[in-house]
Order: sequence, then structure tokens, then C-alpha cells
Amino acid sequence: MSGNYKILSPSDLEDVADEKRSFALDVLVGLSEIPKRLSSRYFYDDRGSELFQKIMDLPEYYLTNCEFEILNTQVEIIADLVRTHSFNLVELGAGDGRKTSILLEYFLQKKYKFRYVPIDISEGAMKILTRNMNEKFPGLKCEGIVAEYFNGLKWLNKLGEGRNFVLFLGSNLGNFNKPQSRVFLRNLWNTLNDGDYLITGFDLKKDIDLMRQAYNDKKGITRAFNLNLLQRINRELGANFDLDKFQHYSNYDVFTGAMESYLVSLEKQTVFIRELGQTFNFEPWESIHTEYSYKYLESDIVELAEATGYSIVQQLYDSRHYFVDSVWRVHKIET
Ligand SMILES: C[S@@+](CC[C@H](N)C(=O)[O-])C[C@H]1O[C@@H](n2cnc3c(N)ncnc32)[C@H](O)[C@@H]1O
Repeated sequence: MSGNYKILSPSDLEDVADEKRSFALDVLVGLSEIPKRLSSRYFYDDRGSELFQKIMDLPEYYLTNCEFEILNTQVEIIADLVRTHSFNLVELGAGDGRKTSILLEYFLQKKYKFRYVPIDISEGAMKILTRNMNEKFPGLKCEGIVAEYFNGLKWLNKLGEGRNFVLFLGSNLGNFNKPQSRVFLRNLWNTLNDGDYLITGFDLKKDIDLMRQAYNDKKGITRAFNLNLLQRINRELGANFDLDKFQHYSNYDVFTGAMESYLVSLEKQTVFIRELGQTFNFEPWESIHTEYSYKYLESDIVELAEATGYSIVQQLYDSRHYFVDSVWRVHKIET
């Protein structure tokens, strides 16, 4: 097989929650809370994935270029880790896989024995990725999985042993707060084998204006991306959000160390969500929290690796030290 993907359904895994039901439930819970909130994992319907591709092309969104530079200049260091093994190259939250192409090209050129297993909750993103990979790398064994991170990993584990090389690129981990990151990384550790590798992208703390610009671009693409969350609720849950009555707001919180995004109601209004059979009231200037994007100190990364059972093999920085792809090894056996 080359360049295919599979959508996990309850028949593949008994405990896979139906994505639409969990979306409805999370919207109900989040909009009933004070302050209101919605999870950033719901940004990525087909339209959201398209908009995120445009965000990656923006000059303000430095993160993508940093990681391109890291992978382009340091691909050999990464390749050396897996040269002698056959392995699964598993990518969590793969998006369109454009940065991963650098690794794939190199591994294919060197004739490494591997299969590529991108896992992403967005079918839209997976369609784009498999189309791109089919075009670029006809010889690649690509077995995409449309699922939530851990449901995808559980399914992968059923396929048996084998060295895993896991990629968690971009600033996906940054959507989790500190306790959530620890739980996530430890759960990941549980599904991996001793000696497996993990590469995680960390956006480092830097000049605050640079970070703010990355989430407040001049073309308004990030604004559209944030507002698309309300549009998705309109489309999938039959709501009547008027997008013109909400403002995109994104700012850096020095105390939490995160860029935080909100949608702010510009007036007093009531929104009805048909699938929930419920109305939600908004005061003027009331906010919905939509995203955390945590930024890191180098000491945070060391602490996180130590606390969750990994050793740091190498820190791969871009030339400006804005971003690091941190290479970790799974440790299970005490010596
Ligand atoms: C910010 S994009 C980054 C994409 C890619 N890693 C990159 O660096 O370009 C986040 C991706 O993770 C996916 N995603 C978000 N939450 C997820 C979850 N809980 N399980 C699986 N995929 C998820 C989204 O659909 C999206 O494609």
C-alpha cells in the first residue's frame, strides 16, 4: 500500500468516542462555564485545516520557518538515530506533513526501511497530506490514521512490536498546560518501547511583540481561523452565531507563559444551538477562551523530559534560537 488513510471508527476500537458527539458535549460544557471556553482541538475541520496551511505561509508565523531550517540543516543527526533499524515513523497531529517531507525525502534516498504513520484528528488535513505524499513520494509506505492521538496509538500498538520514531512537531504540545503535558507525555511513554525516540517541537520564550504578531497577522488569517470555530458550530451543530458580532483577540500572558486566544462578544446577544436544544447568552465584551499556546524555557524542557521518563538526546535549534526540536529517548529498563 502507498499513500492511504483510515478513519478509526467504533468498530476498530471500542472506546473511540464519536467525534461529533464529543464535539457537541464539549461545546455544551465549555459554553456553560464562566468564563466560557472552547477547545482548540476543534479548530481543524476541513476549512480550519485549509486556514492553518495559510497561517504556516505567513511571514509573521515564524514557527514554521524555524522548524524548516532545523530539519533542513540537521536531518543527518536525526537520520543517524534510526539508520540501522527498520522503524515506524509515527507523526502525531501531522497536519499537511510539509516539514516531515524533509525527513521522508532523506530516509527514502538512503533506502531506510520504514513506514510513515501520520495520525490526525482532521480528515481534511489527512486528505491534503496523503494527496501531497502520493504526488511527492510514490514509493513511500504511508498509512494515515484519522483519530485522536491516543486512539491512533492504541491501534498502532495492536499491530505489534517494532522500533517507533515519533514526531510531535510544530507547537502541538504547547496547546496543553503543564500538568496536561506531563500526562500526555507519560501516556505516550506507556505506549512506546524502551529505546524508541520522540521529537517534540517547543516554541521558546522570546520577544513578546514577535510572539504577539505571529497570532495577530496583518492579513487576518489567524482571525478567520479562530472565528471558523463558531462557523463550525453553526455548520455541524446548527447554531446561529453571527461572526460579525465577535472579535478575535490574542495576547501573551507573562504569568502563564502562553499566547492565549479568545473570541469576544461585541454586544449583548443570544445564540441558539439546535443540536443542543439550548440558548447561550453573551454580555457585551464577554469572552470565549479558544487556545493556549505555551512558550518554554530550556529548563522547562529538561524538567518535562525528566519527569516523564525520557532522556534528552539532542536539542536541535534554529539559528535564532526561537524554536527547538527536542530529541528524546524512551527509558524503561533501569540499569
Ligand atoms: C497546529 S497544527 C500542526 C500540524 C503539524 N504538526 C505542523 O507542525 O505543521 C495541529 C494539528 O494537530 C491536529 N490535532 C489537534 N488536536 C488533535 C488531537 N487531539 N488528536 C489528533 N490530532 C490533533 C490538528 O488536526 C492539526 O492538523
